[in-house]
Amino acid sequence: MKKIRKLYEGKAKVIYETQEPDKLILEFKDTASAFDGLKKEVIKGKGNLNMEISSVIFEILGTQGIRTHYIKKLSNNEMLVWKAERFPVEVVVRNLAAGSLVKRYGIKEGTALAPPLVEFFMKSDELHDPMVCINHIKLLNLAPVDLIPKMEKIALKVNDILKKLFTEKGILLVDFKLEFGRLPDGSIAIIDEISPDSMRLWDKSTGEKLDKDRFRFDLGDLIEGYEKVLSKLKK
Ligand code: TMP
Ligand code: ASP
Repeated sequence: MKKIRKLYEGKAKVIYETQEPDKLILEFKDTASAFDGLKKEVIKGKGNLNMEISSVIFEILGTQGIRTHYIKKLSNNEMLVWKAERFPVEVVVRNLAAGSLVKRYGIKEGTALAPPLVEFFMKSDELHDPMVCINHIKLLNLAPVDLIPKMEKIALKVNDILKKLFTEKGILLVDFKLEFGRLPDGSIAIIDEISPDSMRLWDKSTGEKLDKDRFRFDLGDLIEGYEKVLSKLKK
């Protein structure tokens, strides 16, 4: 599969068209960004790690009947995916309080959330990804409204699968973000990536943060955390 044309370059990935109109190449970059692009850094090896972790997770989700855009790995930092019509919505599932939830509502970090909390955000750096409810999604036409309960159901199923997976590896799945799109065959699928950039993962025994919070809050070497996640996933 060859890259024909650059379609889009984001903060962490470049998307290319291929000679097949319904397939795209996702190239994972070595750039880390946080706080809507305010903090940026090149971190060598991050692209490869996120590509690898994402592909492991997409493959596991595929075996559990979850539709994703993932087709296959192409190289250390590239994967082939189905082209999808992207909905500018981020779906976040939380098992433990952290990040913006703690900030917004004053809940103590680490508080268990049962049942898991699902939240929707509008994907917009300029607006700082504001939280939206179903009425905002309708008003702003961010996604077909009938898909909202479907996305929530899929997100909770993904949470069950990933929570079990990470628990077995000694990692707490604190929260994660999913993006959805419509595939060429009309079905709804998870797109983008599922990596420590888009999840919070805490070592169960030590409490060590293994995800992008290392970069956001200068908690330690990012690569070391991501490598721990990958090696535990592969055990
Ligand atoms: P938050 O606590 O900052 O709202 O983040 C919740 C989860 O979503 C966390 O695992 C990080 C992820 N996330 C992204 O993947 N992209 C984003 O732009 C933001 C704000 C969060
Ligand atoms: N992904 C967003 C950014 O790059 C926000 C974040 O993850 O903190 O700015």
